[in-house]
Amino acid sequence: HEKLTKVKNIEFIELGRYEIETWYFSPFPEEFDNSPKLYFCEFCLNYVQHKEQLQRHMRKCDLRHPPGNEIYRSGTLSMFEVDGNDNRVYCQNLCYMAKLFLDHKTLLDDVDYFLFYILCECDDRGCHMVAYFSKEKQSEQYYNLACILTLPPYQRKGYGKFLIAFSYELSKKEGIAGTPEKPLSDLGKVSYKGYWTRVLLEILKKKDCMISVRELSQTTAIRPDDVFCTLKDLNLIQYTPEGMQYVCTDHNILDSHLKAAGPGVPKIDASKLMWTPYK
Ligand code: COA
Ligand code: NA
Repeated sequence: HEKLTKVKNIEFIELGRYEIETWYFSPFPEEFDNSPKLYFCEFCLNYVQHKEQLQRHMRKCDLRHPPGNEIYRSGTLSMFEVDGNDNRVYCQNLCYMAKLFLDHKTLLDDVDYFLFYILCECDDRGCHMVAYFSKEKQSEQYYNLACILTLPPYQRKGYGKFLIAFSYELSKKEGIAGTPEKPLSDLGKVSYKGYWTRVLLEILKKKDCMISVRELSQTTAIRPDDVFCTLKDLNLIQYTPEGMQYVCTDHNILDSHLKAAGPGVPKIDASKLMWTPYK
């Protein structure tokens, strides 16, 4: 793992309309090491070292969206599911690129074991990737998300929380509560905490009677541990004089937390999700 903590090797990438400054080292094949800039085809994610090579590639490449199946579309947003086993080169290229913005994830796991969910903004030129997350096909630790990245030009617009919400929609369809793979980066932690807080507060706000951590987990597909820790941090886990644990549903307290938490989470229209769990 020594190589992964090395200093930044690629300074910039070009992707679609954007030139993006990178954040971290990524273990690209040796011949690409120390290129000042890598030029990516925004659709197939092949990368080259020179602008002219990319221009030549773009005249030949007919892909105008990620490979794989479109499993969700709402307005100009589309989500594609790409199987690492079916589109290995695409997924490996995606991992190399993502590592440029991820500090401590190794990402060198075999892509065959993962599904990749690519969120795109679509227009008449094609579907342009803005963010993605990966998910293990089978996880014994209940992981429903391995890596998450919003490309820097698209960050802080709510796409991160959209992906998180999406990962829980998939878990709901699977009927298994999930949790993100650890360790999370600081930005990952902020995003998850924001998501969990808002989702749980919104449900509590609608409830007048007692609701348990377990029931909250069942309705949200958020694992009971994550529900508990989120509520504990908000001081909403309380105990009766007999020592029985319950979740506070005092509307004044919930309202003040909701106000502090800011705008709600992006809603996923579950009726537009065309997806069945991986078998
Ligand atoms: N500094 C401080 N807070 C930030 C931030 C920054 N640079 N960028 C985003 N945030 C906060 C937002 O304010 C928001 O907080 P809130 O929930 O309290 O409102 C939260 O992070 C999520 O914002 P959102 O716009 O939904 O997310 P995003 O599209 O910016 O994506 C990540 C969030 C984590 C996916 C993105 O920061 C990223 O790709 N980081 C690099 C990769 C990474 O660290 N991934 C996680 C580990 S696997
Ligand atoms: Na990370």
